[in-house]
Parts: sequence; structure tokens; C-alpha cells
Amino acid sequence: MQYDQDKFTEFFADAPADIDMGALDMNRIPRHISCIMDGNGRWATARGLARTEGHKAGIVSLREIITAAVRLGVDVLSAYAFSTENWNRPKHEVAVLMHLFAKTFIDELPLLKRENVRVVFLGDISALPSRTREVFEYGLAECRDHTGMTLALAVNYGGRAELVRAARELARNVVSGTITADDIDEDAISAHLYTAGLPDPELVIRTSGEMRVSNYLLWQIAYAEFYITDTYWPDFDRWGLIRAILAFQGRDRRFGGLSAPAR
Ligand code: FPP
Repeated sequence: MQYDQDKFTEFFADAPADIDMGALDMNRIPRHISCIMDGNGRWATARGLARTEGHKAGIVSLREIITAAVRLGVDVLSAYAFSTENWNRPKHEVAVLMHLFAKTFIDELPLLKRENVRVVFLGDISALPSRTREVFEYGLAECRDHTGMTLALAVNYGGRAELVRAARELARNVVSGTITADDIDEDAISAHLYTAGLPDPELVIRTSGEMRVSNYLLWQIAYAEFYITDTYWPDFDRWGLIRAILAFQGRDRRFGGLSAPAR
């Protein structure tokens, strides 16, 4: 995706001492960066605050990372906001998160409009509380004509559930005779995932030091590079993103071969 050199320079002025912005190769920015935003609760607890305060602080980080990704010319930024397993959290925390999701989407509409960000949801949003779902549908319609970076928000998302859904859809197509079993190949499966039409993540960032995939984009991350930082999500900022991209650019991506294929 095109990036605006002036806005880039302004946004990434005053780099911390450990970052050499000159080392960043703008021709090798990952097309799709995905964030597992972890550590909101621990961030809050460490400050004697309620866990929900961590989620509020996490939203501020997400806003910064959205803007940073646009400035870098990233095509797709995805973020894991709520998993199918997160329903098991205390009722109050789930309710606050659902409220925050709706409020955030409305509050951030000016940013999404200004930056021409297209929004898609990954996951079953039909199962969300009606108010959250309605706000999401309203926000999606407001962003429908945007043509810039895609922001893919995983809400009520589970990688296994996504694969089950794709398998069922494909099975139904076989039963109805639209396709044969032999038509089911990797492209067919990709086309039945929530991420249909999006490139696979090249870089997955997980904050708070956890070394897990947590049922996230199981199919799509087959060849993704992982970057794990101990920083809690609310403390993750534009410089954290640059550190992750520099680490990515230092990797030798072989895709099962002997050397990185030419891009
Ligand atoms: C993980 O921290 C974070 C979440 C479960 C929620 C993150 C959501 C946002 C930042 C807002 C997303 C906004 C929209 C519009 C969808 P955790 O609670 O698992 O932290 P812990 O591991 O320290 O407990």
C-alpha cells in the first residue's frame, strides 16, 4: 500500500536510541501484521487498577498501532480482541468489553474515516449482545467505501470454530452438487474463512511474553513470523511496532525451502 512520506516522517520522528529508522526497509514492510493484544489485565493489576482499566488503556494502544500501520503502508492490520473462549471470563468483564467494543468503534470512526481505513470483523458477530452487534453493523456501513488499509478485528473468533464453519460450508456445497470433493483445495478452504480475500499474516506480534497461539488464525499463520515481546499491550506503541518489523526484516524466511524466495 502507498504511504505518505511526510506523514511517515512526522509520525516516526524522535526514535528511541535503540532504534535505527534508517535500517527500516520500506520495500519489505509486512503486508499483513497481526496483533495478539495480551496483558491488559496484568497491566492494570500491576497498577492497582481494575482489569477493565487495562482494556481501556489497550484501546489507546490499538489506536496508535492503527495510525502507525497506516503510516507504514501496511495493507492489513488484524487484532485479536475477543476469542470464543473469552466468554468464560467473569460476567462483568465480558459486559464491560462488549460495551467498550461498541463505544470504541463509534469513538474511532473519525480516525477510521480520516485514514480511509476499511474494517472487517473476523468471527461470529451475530452472537454478540444486540447493542454491540448493531453498533458494529452501523460502523461497518460507515466505513464501507474506504479503500485504504484493512483493519480486521477478531471478535468472538476461534481458529478451530472458523475451520469447522468452512468445512460445513464446503460439505454443503458438495451435497448440493455445486462442487465436488476434489474441488476442495487450499484455496477453497481459504475462501471460506473469515479472512477470505485477505493476504495471510506475515508477522504476528504477541505482547506480554506469552508463547502461545491461543486458537488464533490457525490456518492463516502457517508461514507467519512470530515476534513476542514482554511488554504488556497497553505499553505497546509505535516503537514497539518498529522493533517488531525490524526483527521481521532480519529473519530468513525460507517457506520450507533453502533460502528466502524473491519478492
Ligand atoms: C487481552 O488482555 C485483551 C483483551 C481480551 C481485549 C483487547 C481489546 C481491545 C484492546 C479493544 C478492541 C477494540 C475493538 C473495537 C474490537 P488480557 O485481559 O487477556 O490480559 P491478561 O492476560 O493480563 O489478563
